[in-house]
Amino acid sequence: GGGGGGSDENEVVAGTAPGFPPFEMKQDGELVGFDIDLLEAVIDETEYTLASWKEFEFKSLIPALTNDNIDVVAAGMTINDERDQTIDFTDPYYSSNQAIVVRAEGDFSPGSLSDLSGHAIGAQKGTTGESVVQEQLIDGGSLDESNYNSYGNYVLAVEDLQNGNIDAVVIDQPVAETFAAQRPVTIAFTYETGENFGFGVREEDDEFTQALNSGLAAVQDGSTYQDLTNKWFGQ
Ligand code: ARG
Repeated sequence: GGGGGGSDENEVVAGTAPGFPPFEMKQDGELVGFDIDLLEAVIDETEYTLASWKEFEFKSLIPALTNDNIDVVAAGMTINDERDQTIDFTDPYYSSNQAIVVRAEGDFSPGSLSDLSGHAIGAQKGTTGESVVQEQLIDGGSLDESNYNSYGNYVLAVEDLQNGNIDAVVIDQPVAETFAAQRPVTIAFTYETGENFGFGVREEDDEFTQALNSGLAAVQDGSTYQDLTNKWFGQ
């Protein structure tokens, strides 16, 4: 099982990066969200107990996991090859594409990535949204590096968008929808990436990973997964 949780073999510590609604965010100083409820429900199905949650910037989560500071990551983290070289993932629990968010009351309404050329674009450091900007725009020469602003979290990026400091934010679609429902921003278009979110675990923690996968299957087979989807995504 986890190594970072202290003396009890079966106690684990979870890490997340709030500012990513409705997956994880601070509400009246409290950490809440779909990932929080889901991981807690999954761990409840196992022999493990959750000792505590720790908060990090997104880009610090994988180092925190490999350093044994935490035992599992629940942060809307996309399963991809690059990350898979350092850590392992549970089975996927949510799918997403990227969305390009702009001010609702504005004259900038891009319809495709190439329309972003020459504009100031934001994303969160270390995310797949940032990779879209880097790989599709900067590497392709259609966006100058100086037009890309990277943020410690997506709330800061969206605030900068509202303030007019940047013209668009590239962000996971369900999170974009949540911001659009709460703030004067809107989705201009979506960019299909076919991402799947998984909980991040250490490569050597096979037993714990298997327990989480069984727990996830139980939560998905029963009504809990649907209940949590209704609660946080309002279906
Ligand atoms: N799905 C994206 C990724 O894995 C963004 C995740 C950001 N998560 C967060 N809690 N801030 O790169």
